[in-house]
Amino acid sequence: MDLVKAAAEVREHAWAPYSRFKVGAAIRAASGTVYLGCNVENVAYPEGTCAEAGAIAAMVAGGDTVIEEIAVIADSPEPVPCCGGCRQKIAEFADGDVKVTLATTEGKTRTLTVAELLPGVFSAAHMDRA
Ligand code: THU
Repeated sequence: MDLVKAAAEVREHAWAPYSRFKVGAAIRAASGTVYLGCNVENVAYPEGTCAEAGAIAAMVAGGDTVIEEIAVIADSPEPVPCCGGCRQKIAEFADGDVKVTLATTEGKTRTLTVAELLPGVFSAAHMDRA
């Protein structure tokens, strides 16, 4: 399955009446299953969730914990980078060399790795004082 296409399809379901900025995300997990997410805003603005967070929650609920590839799409002039919080959420389940494809609805794409997306990632090793 084309991940960008899958992300574009789920983007249509985004609930974004406040920002009017719909985002879709698709994750191919280690099992081969593709998990989808879209942003879900709330009138209490901080309660909204990003598309990436939704896809990750679906993945974990589906029994997968390893991201093999992820795509994110929005209607923006340039491929929109994931927000800081989502970078950390992705890094929880993806190795540094995992590909992240950022896309626009007009067909522009930019592909980078998780390590490029979040250099200097905070990891469990940073809590290890032994
Ligand atoms: N948004 C995402 O879903 N993912 C991103 O990577 C960037 C931002 C959403 C959050 C909010 O609903 C809207 O886009 C505007 O910030």
